[in-house]
Amino acid sequence: MNPNKALWEKGDFTRLAETMRESGAALIEKIGVTAGLNVLDLGCGDGTTAIPSAKAGAKVLGVDIARNLVDAGNKRAQSEGLTNCTIQEGDATDLSWINDGTFDLVVSIFGAMFAPRPFDVAREMVRVTRPGGRIVMGNWIPGDPTLVAQILKISSAYTPAPPEGFVSPMLWGVESQVVERFAQAGIPEENITFEKDTYTFIAPFSTSEFLNRFRTYYGPTMNAFEAAEKNGKAGDLQRELEALFASQNQSTDPNTTRIPATFLRVTVKR
Ligand SMILES: C[S@@+](CC[C@H](N)C(=O)[O-])C[C@H]1O[C@@H](n2cnc3c(N)ncnc32)[C@H](O)[C@@H]1O
Repeated sequence: MNPNKALWEKGDFTRLAETMRESGAALIEKIGVTAGLNVLDLGCGDGTTAIPSAKAGAKVLGVDIARNLVDAGNKRAQSEGLTNCTIQEGDATDLSWINDGTFDLVVSIFGAMFAPRPFDVAREMVRVTRPGGRIVMGNWIPGDPTLVAQILKISSAYTPAPPEGFVSPMLWGVESQVVERFAQAGIPEENITFEKDTYTFIAPFSTSEFLNRFRTYYGPTMNAFEAAEKNGKAGDLQRELEALFASQNQSTDPNTTRIPATFLRVTVKR
């Protein structure tokens, strides 16, 4: 089994994505997804950005490695009556079934960053974008003090070391690495722009319930707890995460959660 696929099929990302819908829709508006655009959403999950793109009138293909999320995304698109949004199973490192220059816009929000072989991913994203088109990536930033970067940092400290040769997904949040990866795909540095942006997790339940969802449904945190439980450290991990979630929550109502998280928005002109 492909460990990348296994990681994302392990849990149920929908249970987190439900708290990301507002930011997903806002981002699609901000980056100018409009009617008639041919859009690829890579690592689309259950459609947090693919569905608002289709609602804006774009023709959307979502691609994701996790079968459960592909099914959930197609179900959501269907229940919204969207005939212009199809989600298929696929791997960001190999899109050979898609012709060169197919898309006006390739979007990947916290998606392609999690694929192995980042140089292959950059090459494939560039290849399927038409000359004059755009790629927009949202990537978590290593060392950033906000929620997701810290969850991933804390979780990896409790998880066994990855196999040799593993490239941290977080390197997609380092500008010089992004430039190097796209340079190898033929994109000059001046065609790449970077902006810090914010996603806000909004939930109609408490922060401890929100943390519980990460513990139960988010692959990287599930793996960390599994490893921590084996060596008696699950309590420490839980306490570290509780402190993090409490410090990041901006809601004053104990029955709701509102947590902004910073990410790097990368825009590439093909
Ligand atoms: C953090 S989730 C983000 C999902 C979605 N973009 C969103 O904003 O809700 C990461 C997604 O990337 C997908 N993914 C991870 N590795 C992938 C790969 N190699 N190819 C395609 N999708 C991948 C996962 O299955 C998962 O749906």
